[in-house]
Amino acid sequence: MSTAAPSPRPPRSRWFKLVWIVPVVVVGAALIVLAANGIRSIPAVKDFMTTYPGQSSLPSWAPVGFPAWLEWQHFLSSFFLLFIIRTGWQVHTTRRAEAYWTRNNKGLIKTKGQPVRIPLHLWFHLTMDVLFVLNGLVFYVLIFVSGQWVRIIPTRWDVIPNAITAGIKYASLNWPTEDGWVNYNALQLLTYFVTVFIAAPLAVLTGLRMVPGLAGRWKPLDKVYPAAVARKLHYPIFIYFLAFIVVHVTLVFATGALRNLNHMYGGSDDVNWIGFAFFAGSLVLMVGGWFAARPVLLASLASLGGRVGR
Ligand code: HEM
Ligand code: HEM
Repeated sequence: MSTAAPSPRPPRSRWFKLVWIVPVVVVGAALIVLAANGIRSIPAVKDFMTTYPGQSSLPSWAPVGFPAWLEWQHFLSSFFLLFIIRTGWQVHTTRRAEAYWTRNNKGLIKTKGQPVRIPLHLWFHLTMDVLFVLNGLVFYVLIFVSGQWVRIIPTRWDVIPNAITAGIKYASLNWPTEDGWVNYNALQLLTYFVTVFIAAPLAVLTGLRMVPGLAGRWKPLDKVYPAAVARKLHYPIFIYFLAFIVVHVTLVFATGALRNLNHMYGGSDDVNWIGFAFFAGSLVLMVGGWFAARPVLLASLASLGGRVGR
C-alpha cells in the first residue's frame, strides 16, 4: 500500500464567498418583502398610507412633461458620467499608467514650480468633468427658469411621510403607480434631489480639492478641508452614483419601460416605441464613445494642451 501524501487543497475560488452571500441576500430580500406586506395590513398603517399616498402634491403652475432641452441634458449627463465613472475606476485601480500627460502651462491656470504630470486617464476624467459641470450648470439655470425645479426639489414636509409610504410600497413589491410625466413619487423626488443637488456638487467640491496643481495652491484650506478628506469622500460618492444608476435604470425598465423611455427620450406620455428608438440610438453613441476613447485618440486630444509620454 502506498501512503500517498494528502493532496494539497485547491485554492478557494474568489467566487467562493458567493456561496453564502447569494442565499443571505435572497433570504434577506424575502424577509423584507414579507415584513412590508405584513406592515401594510395593519389598520393604522393602512390609514397612514391613505393620508400619505406616496406623492406630495405640486403647485398648480408646475410644468407637465419634459421639454426637449431637459431630455438632451439628461442624455449628456449620462454620456459624460459613463466616461467619468470609467476613468474614475481607472484612477482607483491603476498603479502605473501607460501614458502620462504633462501640461504645457500656457493656460489660464499656471502652476508654480514642477509642471503638473498626471496619468492620461486622469486627464480624461478631468476633461469629462468640465463638460459634466458645464452641462450641469446649464441644467440648474434652465430648471429654475422653466419651473421644472419644483418636480425635483421638495417644497412640502409631507414629502417625508409620503416617501415612507412609497418605500413600503416598493418593499412590498406592490410598486407605486408610475406617474413620472406629471409628478414623481416622494421617494423618487428625494432621490433625484440628492443626486442633482447633493451628490453631484459634492463630487465636484471633493474632486476640485484633489486636482493636481490646484491642490497645492489652496494651502490655506489645508487646515479646514485637507485634500485627504476630499479623497476619502470622493470614492463613496462614486459608489452612490453607481448604486443610483443601477436602481434608477432597473426601475425605468421595470415600471413601464416604453412609457418611461418616452418620458425622457421621446417627449411624450404615450406608449409606443419612439422613446425606445432614441434611447437605443443614445446607447449606440455611448458604446461607440466607449470604444473610440482609446489611449491613441486620448493621447492625440491631450497633446493639444500638453505633452503626452511615458
Ligand atoms: C468636477 C468633478 C470632478 C473632479 C474635478 C474630479 C477630480 C478627480 C481627481 C483629481 C481624482 C484623482 C484623485 C487622486 O489623485 O487620487 C479623481 C478620482 C476619482 N474620481 Fe473624480 N472628479 C470629479 C467627479 C467625479 C464623479 C462625478 C465621479 C463618479 C461618478 C468620480 C469618480 C472618481 C473616482 C472613482 C476616482 C478614484 C478615487 C480613488 O482612487 O479612490 N469623479 N477625481
Ligand atoms: C442610460 C440610462 C438611463 C435611462 C434609460 C434613464 C431614464 C430616465 C427616465 C425614463 C426618467 C423619467 C422618469 C419618469 O418619468 O418617471 C429619468 C429621470 C431622471 N434621470 Fe435618468 N436615465 C438613465 C440614466 C441616468 C443617469 C446616469 C443619471 C444621473 C446620475 C440620471 C438621472 C436622472 C434624473 C436626475 C432624473 C430626473 C430629471 C428631472 O425630472 O429633472 N439618469 N431618467
